[in-house]
Amino acid sequence: MKEIKAKNYSIFFGINGYDKLLEYIKVNNYSKIFIHLDSNTNKLCLNVFLKQFKEIDFEKLVSRPGEENKNIESCLLLWNNLSERSGDRKSLIINLGGGVVGDMGGFIASTFKRGIDYVNIPTTLLSMVDASVGGKTGVDLGVLKNQVGTFYDPKMVIIDPLYLNTLEYSEILSGYAEIFKHSIISDLIFFDKLNSYNENLDFKNIDLIKASIEIKNRIVLLDPKEENERKALNFGHTLGHSIESFFLKSKNRLLHGEAIAIGMILASYISHKSLGFSIKDVEKIKQHILKIYKKISFTNNNVQDIINLLVHDKKNSHGKINFVLIKKIGKPVYDIEVRNETIIDAFNYYSY
Ligand SMILES: NC(=O)c1ccc[n+]([C@@H]2O[C@H](COP(=O)([O-])OP(=O)(O)OC[C@H]3O[C@@H](n4cnc5c(N)ncnc54)[C@H](O)[C@@H]3O)[C@@H](O)[C@H]2O)c1
Repeated sequence: MKEIKAKNYSIFFGINGYDKLLEYIKVNNYSKIFIHLDSNTNKLCLNVFLKQFKEIDFEKLVSRPGEENKNIESCLLLWNNLSERSGDRKSLIINLGGGVVGDMGGFIASTFKRGIDYVNIPTTLLSMVDASVGGKTGVDLGVLKNQVGTFYDPKMVIIDPLYLNTLEYSEILSGYAEIFKHSIISDLIFFDKLNSYNENLDFKNIDLIKASIEIKNRIVLLDPKEENERKALNFGHTLGHSIESFFLKSKNRLLHGEAIAIGMILASYISHKSLGFSIKDVEKIKQHILKIYKKISFTNNNVQDIINLLVHDKKNSHGKINFVLIKKIGKPVYDIEVRNETIIDAFNYYSY
């Protein structure tokens, strides 16, 4: 399979993707092409891109790397940069980087001159299987994740696993959490397949990447603006994001996927308590995750701080904190209110 069709764009794989991009650029006659990178992908990924794509005249937009720079200050630099370099409505931005480059570059594209075209070329596993697909763009506000943003689709996405060769192993693991999440919310066969892997699981395997993108794309197609079905993609993210925000303030940083992995164990246990989700499956999820990710210790105060951060979750409405839970593997339910005591119980289950 060379292509997955999203609503207004396609996701292409490998060499085919670069051919399509070249064709697309020729047809659209862009006045300027900006490649948006961070300082790491500038060093490690641009040369990989240029090997495939020699016939391109472009200017660079280089952001500072990491979640701590996914903010409005970085956007201001980018907007000014575009403006000073005569970016106009017929400019194209190519995001070559991880989820931070993609989320921020997409946001810049959606707002500059009221919206210009952009293409995503994700260079981390997480951005390949999740962030680059689905049209969500945005930035954080302080430690609060993704508080400002838009829905704005890219013109195409190119998945090339070659970029993963320079990615740190911890970042590969971070991306795998989203692959595992996709299996939990939608596909028992995929879930069993992932669970049956032993230590030799190749997290960068192209079939895993494709299967995961297909699941995400299928869900986004059902509900692009996250009014119903798409909420399922937030499984593990309600507490996961609070845990990530909590650690953004501390010296011990947790990667996005590591926080989400903990969030998925907690959400599975809460699903057991609230909806009767099988405890055997909760155990399977916990064991699989703890085989891959280190266990984190939480004090009672930490748990309280994390619960306090939940009020900022974007899925909340009318003052209620809404969770995505599961009845069975592949059967998510959303907008479920959960009591604080159940959340504390879930942390105890995670910790014992
Ligand atoms: N828009 C969405 O739907 C969506 C979905 C999931 C996650 N996200 C967002 O994605 C972000 C996380 O993405 P991420 O994990 O890709 O983080 P990231 O973009 O910060 O990348 C992780 C690190 O890897 C470096 N890097 C990137 N590609 C590399 C490569 N090929 N070789 C070596 N180093 C490389 C980056 O410079 C960075 O230091 C979060 O901000 C999250 O909120 C968005």
